[in-house]
Parts: sequence; C-alpha cells; structure tokens
Amino acid sequence: MARTLVHGGTVVSADGSRRLDVLVEGETIAALLAPDSPSVEADLMIDATGKLVLPGGIDAHTHMEIPFGEATSKDTFETGSVAAAFGGNTALIDFPIQMKGDPLMGSFEQTMAKAEGHCAIDFGFHQIVGDVNEQTLADLDLVLAEGVTSYKLFTAYPGVYYSTDGEITRVMQWAAANGSTVLMHAENGSVIDLLRSQAVARGDTAPIFHALTRPSSLEGEAAHRVIALAELTGVPLYIVHISAGEVVAEVAAARRIGLNVFGETCPQYLFLDQSLLDQGFEGAKFVCSPPLRDRSQGHQETLWRGLADDDLQVVATDHCPFDFAGQKELGIDDFTKIPNGLPVVEHRYQLLFHAAVGERRLDLNRMVDVGATTPAKMFGLYPKKGTIEVGADADLVVADPEGSYVISSTTHHMNVDYSCFEGMELAGRFEKVMLRGRVIVDGEAFTGGTGHGSYLRRGLNQCLR
Ligand code: URP
Ligand code: ZN
Ligand code: ZN
Repeated sequence: MARTLVHGGTVVSADGSRRLDVLVEGETIAALLAPDSPSVEADLMIDATGKLVLPGGIDAHTHMEIPFGEATSKDTFETGSVAAAFGGNTALIDFPIQMKGDPLMGSFEQTMAKAEGHCAIDFGFHQIVGDVNEQTLADLDLVLAEGVTSYKLFTAYPGVYYSTDGEITRVMQWAAANGSTVLMHAENGSVIDLLRSQAVARGDTAPIFHALTRPSSLEGEAAHRVIALAELTGVPLYIVHISAGEVVAEVAAARRIGLNVFGETCPQYLFLDQSLLDQGFEGAKFVCSPPLRDRSQGHQETLWRGLADDDLQVVATDHCPFDFAGQKELGIDDFTKIPNGLPVVEHRYQLLFHAAVGERRLDLNRMVDVGATTPAKMFGLYPKKGTIEVGADADLVVADPEGSYVISSTTHHMNVDYSCFEGMELAGRFEKVMLRGRVIVDGEAFTGGTGHGSYLRRGLNQCLR
C-alpha cells in the first residue's frame, strides 16, 4: 500500500491547530505523528514546512448541468469537479432535479449517470422534489436507500420548482419520520412574480430590477414560514443560500428555542453586493437568487457575524454557471429571462482561506469548520470526510498562508466565460490537493482522474441537538 508523509506542516481542524505530520496509507490517514518524526519511511514525502494542512473542502451545494429557463448551467460534473479540486475541494453535493410531471427516481438515475465516471472528486446528492404526490413519496424511500438523506424544496420559482406550503409539509412529515433533512430555498415566489411582472410592464427591464423585485423581507418571510412548518413536523431544516439579515435572525431565533434549524450562506453574499447588478447589462453576470444585497443595509456584516456566532453553520457555493455570451444575454431585453446563478465552485474555500489568513474576519479553525467539517457532519459524511484524523479519508489541502492568488476568468478552470470575482487578490494559496491519498492538484497541474470521484452514500444529519 502506497505511503505518503505530509511533514513539517500545521494541521488545522475545526477545534484547533497543531504541528503534526500526516501519514497516509492507501486512501486513509494512518497516523498523526509528532513533527518530523525521524523513523518514518514513505514512498512520497510532501514538505509542508511553513504551510497549513487543511481537510479537503466540501461544497454542499452545486448545480452542474442544470436547466434554467432556456439555458443549461455550463459546468459538467467533469469540468466543475476539476475546478472544484483546484479550489481545494475533495467532495461536492449536487442535485438531481425532479421536474413537475416527471418521476423522481428517474431524475436521480439520470444525474447519477452524468456524475459517475466523470466526477474528479467524491460526490453525493440532495434530491430536488418538484412534484409532490404519492409516487414521489414512494420514490423518496428508494433514493433514501441510495444514501440521499436530504431533499430540497422551493417556496420560489412558481410554475418551475415551486411547492405549496401543504406539499412542503407533506415532504417534511415524510422526512421527519425517517430522520432525514429538508433543505429549503426560502423566498416568497408568488409575491416576487407579481413584482417582476409589474417591473417589466413599467419598462424596468435591466438586471438591477432582478434584485429590486426580490426584497430581503420576502426571503425573511419565507424563512419564517418554513421554520414554522419544520417546528410543526419536527423535521431538521437547512435553509440554503441565505443572503439576508432577516433570515439570519429567523434561524438564530429558531436555534435559541432548540429547533434543529441550520443556515447556509455563500461567498457571493459574503463578498459581493447589489451595486454590481447596477451597471447596465453587465449586471447580468451577478444575477442569482436570492439576489446580492445592498451593502449599506448591513446584510453582509450580519452574515459574517452569523458565521462567527454559529447562527449560520455552512458556506457552500450554489455554483450554477452561465456564460455571459449567449446565456446571460438571453435576458438582454428582460431581466426575468436571465438564467439565475453564479460560477463560484473554484473560489469558495480559497475565499474563506483569504478571509481567515488575509482579512482576518474569520477564525482559521472556524473557516475549516464552515467549509469542511460541519458540511460533513450536516450531511452524514463525518468522520470519513471533513476532518484530519486517523481512519478518515486522506483528503488534504497543503496551503501557503504567505502565498497569494489573483482570480481571473483567464486562469480559472470553470467552464464559463467570466468571473464574478475578476481581479480580486486573495491572501493565501493552495499548493496541493489530495483526494483519498492521491495528489489531484499539484501547483498549476491537475494530476487526478476525471472519473476518480466516488459516490458518497450519506448517513443522517450529525448536527442534531
Ligand atoms: O440563482 C440560483 N440560485 N440558481 C441556482 C438554483 C437555485 O435556486 O439554487
Ligand atoms: Zn435555490
Ligand atoms: Zn442552488
């Protein structure tokens, strides 16, 4: 069995940092040793002196190859997972999508076929439920048996992914009965649709009206409602891609009274803001839902504080890339036709590292927690994933806190023609990424295999109180 020793570095965990050498045998971590232990022999020695050794990042929310209106998100599992690997990730969780009228199990099988043999890092699925009926509930039993232990529903996008409160409650009852977790996209879709059609009728068709017709109060209202439904049914609830201070307050209040309610935010909400949509049609590059928020209203500060205080538990990307040319441009005369979503998968863990070692707005251990360890626990992957300990998968990132990195669409690996973080200078640089004992990124080179990722059969939520 091949042995690798990562020596001289500081191992960073969610609960502390220690100078330790990491001995890898085959795919797993065999030992954590006192620094530079003299007698250890290995086939490969990786010198991490002066470097930090992080657990591989886990992006718990990506959308490879999903349809949105007339467009399909540009990254395949192959291109998106290679980009994710360059960004320090060793696992991602994507979404089979059941559309109205379609069988749920069919969507799972189709997405599995797209991912298996193509994904460069390990992968799991949350199931999107788009048509709640008896057959769907029977199919949910089948996907649960396949290790899909979380299900996403939407109070947004009427006529597409939207479910009524009754339908959401029915799935929550089913999930509560078997201990699985419901994920909610919380925005009041019906009111948003009214505001959107009124804006277009007035001639307000530029990208900025995407943000102005999805006010934060409607995200807060929907969050409040789905938390009430979770309390009623007793289901663990995870609210995805939180952009608004109102939602942080709702999650914090629910957690204070002991509910199993959890919150995810994304780098775009932590680093970007609404003004980017207000630059003519260039603003289409920043159209996602929920929208980027007005910085002056304090949402961003509230998100950062929420992460530090554990009112929010996870940073994922909601990666959903569309080219500016030909795809975002579908909405050139009407913002409602701009496909929603941003390319982020390559930069999430890097941006969090920058926030820790550069901006120092997030503690380094908390960075590992929200970027790897808690996602692993939340989605039933711990301690195989998300941690550096004996017996865990050898998923490691060797990171240079003194390095730097400039984000650009000319150098990124995502299959998309722009970057929403273009020109941003990051403190810190990822030098090597290891997936289950194999170095898959070495400096500028991808050294992994595009089918090397394994399907992750997940257990139940390990964050329950
Ligand atoms: O704009 C977004 N978020 N696109 C992806 C679909 C979703 O709602 O997660
Ligand atoms: Zn969503
Ligand atoms: Zn999403």
